[in-house]
Amino acid sequence: DWKMNSFVETAIYSLRKKIGSGRVLCALSGGVDSSVAAVLLSKAVGKQLTCVFVDHGLLRKNEGDEVEAVFGTKGAYELNFVRVNARQRYYEKLKGITEPEEKRKIIGAEFIRVFEEEAKKIGAVDFLVQGTIYPDVIESGLGKSAVIKSHHNVGGLPDVVDFKEIIEPLRMLFKDEVRKAGLELGIPEHLVFRQPFPGPGLGIRIVGEVTEEKVRIVQEADYIYREEIIRAGLDKELGQYFAALTNMRSVGVMGDFRTYDYAVALRAVNTSDFMTAEAAQIPWEVLGKVTSRIVNEVKGVNRVLYDCTGKPPGTIEFE
Ligand code: XMP
Repeated sequence: DWKMNSFVETAIYSLRKKIGSGRVLCALSGGVDSSVAAVLLSKAVGKQLTCVFVDHGLLRKNEGDEVEAVFGTKGAYELNFVRVNARQRYYEKLKGITEPEEKRKIIGAEFIRVFEEEAKKIGAVDFLVQGTIYPDVIESGLGKSAVIKSHHNVGGLPDVVDFKEIIEPLRMLFKDEVRKAGLELGIPEHLVFRQPFPGPGLGIRIVGEVTEEKVRIVQEADYIYREEIIRAGLDKELGQYFAALTNMRSVGVMGDFRTYDYAVALRAVNTSDFMTAEAAQIPWEVLGKVTSRIVNEVKGVNRVLYDCTGKPPGTIEFE
């Protein structure tokens, strides 16, 4: 694609010119936008770039290791990669918290605090990278109407990091263009075509209080669900799909024993813009396979439900 090719080349050229010998800091989430931004910067200025990846313990199964495999010392890029294990800190902060917006605030605020601590260790930098893309620019320009859910991104970082200038290398690109640039830059496809994952992560896919045990349950259930969706060849046609953990336990039977365990809810939606969505019609055999694997393989679950609700009146996430 000559156009993308020239975007990447031009971007690298102008980033080099702008940054000179300056130091650059980037918050890496493992999402498409921040990954493409990070790789672009890495190609432009190599080790002048430090990427900080905060593992808040609310990521999908293996996700932290996957991000490290791409960006860490064993990966293909020249940059400084810092992985912060902040899991226990987050679980501590979330203890006893059940209200969705309060969880979002705590997770967002803790992110800023963890990042601030890391930034202090790194010292003054010249540039802070943000993975802002064109739709984000328009959205903030128009001002959001009603805030249904406060979306946590990396909004507060500029306040706690000591830097001179923000760099937003993707601010003229739409999502599909970001993906093309990612492929052009050689970023693995599983990362480039990754489905959207909310900043607060599994924190808002666990209804009610978040505990380490519930995180394990939802991670394992979600992993099985994704594996079977991919095996059935459905992953490319779904807008977003995941397992959530309801806050309901119910009675079941396993062998000769009564169980009293959690219900996992499966969600899959088709959507063009995530503002409205419809529940996807997943073939019954696939749901059946996922269900039997989850109840057999995930300790603490004895029931699996499928969410048939569209948006509106539901939202895509459970909280
Ligand atoms: P809802 O649940 O509002 O989700 O229908 C619409 C899209 O936004 C994502 N989402 C979030 N993303 N922080 C994020 O970064 C959040 O707090 C958040 N809440 C929802 C959701 O995954 C879906 O793609």
